[in-house]
Amino acid sequence: MKIGIISGSHRNPSQSERVGRYMQRQLEQMGQDSWLYTLADNPLPLWDQAIWDNDEVWNERLAPIKQALSSCDGFIVISPEWHGQVPAGLKNFFLMFSRFELGHKPALITAVSSGDGGTYPVAELRMSSYKNNRLCYIPEHLILRKVEKILNENSADNEPVSDRYYRERIDWSLDVLLGYATALKTMRENTQIFHDKFGNGM
Ligand SMILES: Cc1cc2nc3c(=O)[nH]c(=O)nc-3n(C[C@H](O)[C@H](O)[C@H](O)COP(=O)(O)O)c2cc1C
Repeated sequence: MKIGIISGSHRNPSQSERVGRYMQRQLEQMGQDSWLYTLADNPLPLWDQAIWDNDEVWNERLAPIKQALSSCDGFIVISPEWHGQVPAGLKNFFLMFSRFELGHKPALITAVSSGDGGTYPVAELRMSSYKNNRLCYIPEHLILRKVEKILNENSADNEPVSDRYYRERIDWSLDVLLGYATALKTMRENTQIFHDKFGNGM
């Protein structure tokens, strides 16, 4: 299986990307392929009408990302909580890619907070980021609280109880995601998932 990891923070460096790289290493240890795309420094300009007008610059910008997303069997969507929201760049990302790259593929939401937050991004993504692209958020999600104190390579930087808990929970959640990725691959192969009349979700 190949898992795409979308790091939704615009910051550089960011905790989201650090978590993404950790999860990528775990996937590697499980013998799985992965591709990490980070929104650090805003690589994607805000959506504009030219995207729908077959603009050459936009086509060139998006083509390699579309290709990479299409090659993935599932996704991890990492979002920090910023003022109780998903960062605007991550919502912008969801305007650019469609059912042809993301449709009916499973995704594991991973929220990040330096404090005790992290629930709002989960609720927001589950409510409003999948309607047209048909990304399938799995029921399991992760909320990594006090994120600076976990998953550090130097164990002295970690709070031991939380660190142990999150490492174990991440591995299990990745395993669940891989299970969905295997199952939904078969589903996509055996089902008419694209319908000319019903291009967008209701
Ligand atoms: C603009 C901004 C707003 C934030 N708002 C929240 C918030 O509402 N809740 C929360 O738990 N943390 C909030 N934080 C703190 C983040 O949890 C913390 O900075 C975390 O590291 C963000 O992830 P990132 O490093 O991947 O961007 C905010 C941080 C920023 C930069």
